[in-house]
Amino acid sequence: MIVTIDGVAASGKSSVSAGVAQALGVPYISSGLLYRAATLLGLEAGVDLGQEGAVLGCLNPPPRLEPLAAGNRVWQAGRDLTPDLHSTRVDRGVSVVAARPEVRAWVDAQLRALPAPLVAEGRDMGTAVFPHAGAKFYLTASPRVRAQRRAHERPEEVDAIEAALIERDRLDTTQSAPAPDAHVIDTGALSLQGVIDAVLARLPAR
Ligand code: DC
Repeated sequence: MIVTIDGVAASGKSSVSAGVAQALGVPYISSGLLYRAATLLGLEAGVDLGQEGAVLGCLNPPPRLEPLAAGNRVWQAGRDLTPDLHSTRVDRGVSVVAARPEVRAWVDAQLRALPAPLVAEGRDMGTAVFPHAGAKFYLTASPRVRAQRRAHERPEEVDAIEAALIERDRLDTTQSAPAPDAHVIDTGALSLQGVIDAVLARLPAR
């Protein structure tokens, strides 16, 4: 079975997906990493990230997602791209790259080629990539709650982080609404384990 977990930025999707996948004994895939890898390769090649076909032309040989339980990694021709995927410049560029239809089509094809069962995490897993998934979830939380979680170790930055998240939500125009058949979970009042348990409780009988 395929389980999809979509949601807004910093809603805890990756941690929840990892926990659900571990409970089910299946891999999870973090689709955002492929958008980040495409962005990194476009930046390194110095192309205009928003130009049609420009980033796609940098994906040679194509980066590959390795769905490790301890955290997905992305490889290109023996180079581990993962340590560079959360840099500030990738954060800044990825919304533009993720808006390119040809990049989305490339990511979707990579994901659909992976063997089921799996847990797929992202923005459009339940709507565009795996519309026939066996169970779909959509995680939400207010910008304030997400900022407070992210600012855990630097509380003095919570206002700036909240502002950045609101801007990120705005830039992620490709970010889809929940699938009509998704369970929407507001994670605001829940711990990580609480969200994982809420997802597991809603899965169809296995
Ligand atoms: O989840 P993340 O922060 O790693 O995602 C990085 C970017 O990729 C973010 O701008 C949203 C975009 N994204 C997307 O458009 N579709 C997905 N399925 C996953 C991520």
